[in-house]
Amino acid sequence: MNWGMKNRLSRIISPKTGRCVMLAVDHGYFQGPTTGLKDLAKTVSPLLDFADALMITRGALRNWIAPEMDKPIILRVSGGQSILKELSNEIITTSISDCIRINASSITCSVYIGSEFEKQTIGNLSKIVNEGENYGIPVLAVTAVGKEIARDARYLSLASRMCVELGAHMIKTYYCENFKKVVQACGNVPVVIAGGKKIEEKKALEMAYHAIKDGAAGVDMGRNIFQSDNPVGMIKAVRAIVHNKASVNEAFRIYKHT
Ligand code: 5RP
Repeated sequence: MNWGMKNRLSRIISPKTGRCVMLAVDHGYFQGPTTGLKDLAKTVSPLLDFADALMITRGALRNWIAPEMDKPIILRVSGGQSILKELSNEIITTSISDCIRINASSITCSVYIGSEFEKQTIGNLSKIVNEGENYGIPVLAVTAVGKEIARDARYLSLASRMCVELGAHMIKTYYCENFKKVVQACGNVPVVIAGGKKIEEKKALEMAYHAIKDGAAGVDMGRNIFQSDNPVGMIKAVRAIVHNKASVNEAFRIYKHT
């Protein structure tokens, strides 16, 4: 791995612990003004101190985040579909020169294994891996799952391993039963979990806890943080699990008492 690539990765995943808490706020790229992100600046600013990296689109960044902020950016560079249409119909929307101009520490796109536009999304990932390799920018591959596909260890191992083989430097996938298998399928490539749809806070903390126990490097969580009734409490609680070995009950107390 070249120096720039390593340096950017180290800004996101702690080289000391191999762990990270990414805050995902890129939802608007296909969901529009999602609940909790209508005023993105207001939602994100109290959370930033507790995030190791911010996953976001270039438009959201330019509109709602001050360029003076010092958290590494994981830039969502895919789009082209909406919640009204086939979700797998993604293209790459952001040029590598704009990613460099933005000072992205990582770039990311989704891959829809088993969906209608599977090959197109594999092409998208391959393209950004090639560009990332050229400029020392690591790629986070997101294993997005079509509506009719079961999110089980067999499917998520297939999707995640394919992304590893295609050259992704980090994998974002969903937690599932036998999650260890998914982590093992990715070899030395760090795996982080998405939060998915909003669930009860304690259940989300349990999910983060088990993911870490099963070998995840951390989380890339959005709705289960910013749609919580206590987003700051929630990110602090997730952080305690990822970085400080907190139990679910300890983390839940942090959420409750922040
Ligand atoms: C879609 C995405 C999302 O836009 C987002 O990052 C997901 O985060 P969460 O599920 O935790 O809200 O990656 O595939």
